[in-house]
Amino acid sequence: MKIAVGCDHIVTEIKNRAVKYLKIQGHEVVDCGTYDSVRTHYPIFGRKVGVAVVKGQADLGVCICGTGVGINMAAEKIKGVRGALVTDVQTAVYAKEELNANVIGVGGRVVGEGTIEYILDAFIAAKYKPTAENQALIQKIDGLIGENNAIENDAIFDEIQKKWDEGFYHD
Ligand code: RB5
Repeated sequence: MKIAVGCDHIVTEIKNRAVKYLKIQGHEVVDCGTYDSVRTHYPIFGRKVGVAVVKGQADLGVCICGTGVGINMAAEKIKGVRGALVTDVQTAVYAKEELNANVIGVGGRVVGEGTIEYILDAFIAAKYKPTAENQALIQKIDGLIGENNAIENDAIFDEIQKKWDEGFYHD
């Protein structure tokens, strides 16, 4: 399968290990970054993962930040993303089987490296069960999204990124 993976600067090493693991399992990986530990914005990478999935450049997406919360929230703003914050295998399987999740968020500082691998395996292997109930629930959830489709706006973070580059923000 083709998996898009993104992260913020505090979990880059964990993302790199997840990428390596996925490749060893035979998957193709779209590494959306970040690629180092220079402070950055996790919404940039959550968006990249979401867009890659919605545009069909990847079958599934995995977002990793410290808690998984922020980056998953960002990915979920992309129309077509069905994101789930996951800390365990059971949740990952539920998200795929019942709600056809196409992106998961994982907290690199919350979930250990070994558990992340189990979560990845379970999420990828689980199959959506398209029952009438599941379809109706997904339709209701999808119906909540607004008209502003961020997938069309590649420049959406350019101004913020420029400010980071100029040293406008400091820890
Ligand atoms: C980064 O400082 C941290 O806030 C982020 O990785 C994440 O935990 C947010 O949900």
